[in-house]
Amino acid sequence: MSLRGAVLVCGALLCGCGAAGGDDGGTAGGATAGGGAAGGHAGGAAGGATAGGAAGGTAGGTAGGSAGGSILTAQELAAAHLQSPLPAVPADPTNAFADNAAAATLGQRLYFDRSYSGALAVGNDGGNGATGDAGQRGTVSCFSCHASAGGDDNRSLPNNVSLGTDYGPRNALPVTNASFYAWTNWGGRFDTQWSLPLAVAENVRIMRSTRLEVAHLLFEKYRADYDAIFPVPLDPSLAGDAGDASRFPLAGKPKAAATDPDGPWETMDAGDRGTVNRIYANYGKAIGAYLRKLVSRNAPFDRFLAGDDAAISDAAKRGLKVFLGKGQCAGCHSGPNFADDQFHALGVQQTGPRVPAVDLGRYADLPALLASPFNSAGAFSDRPDAGKLDGLALAPAMMGQFRTKSLRGIGQSAPYMHAGQNSSLEQVIDFYDVGGGAVPDGGTLDARIHSLGLSTAEKADLAAFLRTLDGDPLPAALLDDTSR
Ligand code: HEC
Ligand code: HEC
Repeated sequence: MSLRGAVLVCGALLCGCGAAGGDDGGTAGGATAGGGAAGGHAGGAAGGATAGGAAGGTAGGTAGGSAGGSILTAQELAAAHLQSPLPAVPADPTNAFADNAAAATLGQRLYFDRSYSGALAVGNDGGNGATGDAGQRGTVSCFSCHASAGGDDNRSLPNNVSLGTDYGPRNALPVTNASFYAWTNWGGRFDTQWSLPLAVAENVRIMRSTRLEVAHLLFEKYRADYDAIFPVPLDPSLAGDAGDASRFPLAGKPKAAATDPDGPWETMDAGDRGTVNRIYANYGKAIGAYLRKLVSRNAPFDRFLAGDDAAISDAAKRGLKVFLGKGQCAGCHSGPNFADDQFHALGVQQTGPRVPAVDLGRYADLPALLASPFNSAGAFSDRPDAGKLDGLALAPAMMGQFRTKSLRGIGQSAPYMHAGQNSSLEQVIDFYDVGGGAVPDGGTLDARIHSLGLSTAEKADLAAFLRTLDGDPLPAALLDDTSR
C-alpha cells in the first residue's frame, strides 16, 4: 500500500524516479525497499496531520508522529523514502572482475602507486599544491586528487580545478559512491568505471604515463597478484632481461593524431599491442573493483528515514520540504544516489582561476567515449552486447550539458559544480534561485531551471538539509597506501 502511495507521489512531484529506475536496476530495488519502509513514517505523519482535529490525543501519544510528522506531510515522507537507503552497488557485467576481492586488493595498490606517473609540467611554486618539482617523475597517483574526506581533491590550489602533471579543466569528482552512476565524469566521458583509469593514466595533464609503462609496472611489482586473478598470465617477455624484451618497449601509447610520426607503440607487432591493451584493460578492471568498495552509507538523512526523528534538525526537515517541493531539486537529484543519471544544461558560469572559457560538457565528452576501444561495446568489455551505447549520437542539445551530480557527501566536497565555480552550498542555492545561468550557444537551458523565489529562511533550510547527506567515513583499511 505504501509503495503505491510512493509511486503516486513521485509522479505528482516530478521526482523523475521512473527515469532513474529504468536506467539502473539497483535504483529500482532501492525504491521498493524505501517504499516498504515508508509505511511507518507515513503513518506517523498522517497522525500528525490530523492532530489539529479530533484525533489530537492519539497523534500526540505517537512518538513517530513528532517533529518529522508535524513538518513533513505523508506525501513528502513517501517521496523522501524514494531517496533512501542507498542500495547495493549496481552490478557491472562489463567487468568480469568487478566483485573479485583479489582484483580489488590489486586495484587498491595501483590506486596508490605514484611510480608510473610522468614528468610534471607544472612544479610546486610553494602555493599551488603540485606534487613535486617541474620535470620530476613518479609523484602523482590516483589518490593525489581524491584524498579529501569526501574522496575529491583538496590538494590542488586554488582548489577549483585539479593539478596533476598539469592543470586540468575540471573540478575533481568524489570517488566515494561513484560506482552508483550509470555514466562516469561530469560530461559522461565513460560508460564504465574501469575504462576511466585507462584514459586518466595516459592523459598528459593528469598522470602522463603510458600503457606500456603500466604493463611493465604490473610485471615488475605486481606480477604474482595479476597472474592469480586474470586468466592469461603476464607475458614473460615483459622482463627487462628477456631475450626478446624489445617486443615491449619501456614506454609508449598510441599516437595522438594519424598524421603524427609513428612512436614506439606503432612499431610494435599488432599481436603484442593487443597483449598490452588486454593488460591495460585489466589494470582498469582491478581499479574498478577497488572503486566499488568506496561506499558511504548511513547519512543522518538515512537515519531519519529509518525512524530516528532526531537524526536531522527541524531546519533540515523544512529544507527537505523545499528540496522536494518549491526548489524542485528532486526533479533531477532523484533516487537513492540523488542523481537521475541524465545530463542537463544549467548554464553554470565558466569563471574562476584556471577555468577554461568554454566547456561544452557532454558534447565535448561523447565523441571520445564513442570512439574508445575500451568502451562498454568494445572488445575489452565483458558484455559488449549490453547495448548501453546503442543509438547514442552527438546532438546539439548536449552542448553545455553536465551529468546530475549526486548530493550524497556534498558537505565534504566543496567547491561545487564542474569547475568548482561555487565555493559554498549557499552559492549553489543562490544560483538555482535566480534560475541558473547562460548556456553556450546552441545549447538549451533545462526546462526545470527557472527562478524559484526562495526566501532567506528557505535557502538556509535547504542548505541545512543538504548537510544531512554526509554518510559514514570509508573504512580506514581501504585508504591504506598498499602500493609496493
Ligand atoms: C590531477 C588530479 C586527478 C588524478 C591524478 C586522478 N583524478 Fe580522478 N578525477 C579528477 C577530475 C578533475 C575528475 C572529473 C573529470 C571530468 O569530469 O572531466 C575525476 C573523476 C574521477 C572519477 C569519476 C567519478 C564520477 O562521479 O563519475 C573517478 C571514479 C576517478 N576520478 C577515479 C580516479 C582514478 C582511478 C585515478 C587514477 C587512475 C584518478 N581518478 C586520478 C582528478 C584526478
Ligand atoms: C535540471 C536538473 C537539476 C535540477 C532541477 C537541480 N539540479 Fe543540482 N545539479 C544538476 C546538474 C546537472 C549539476 C552539475 C552541474 C554542473 O556542474 O555544470 C548539479 C549540481 C548541483 C550541486 C553541486 C554538486 C557538486 O558536487 O559540485 C548541488 C549542491 C546541487 N546541484 C543542488 C541542487 C539543489 C539544492 C537544487 C534545487 C534547488 C538542484 N540542485 C536542482 C542538475 C539539477
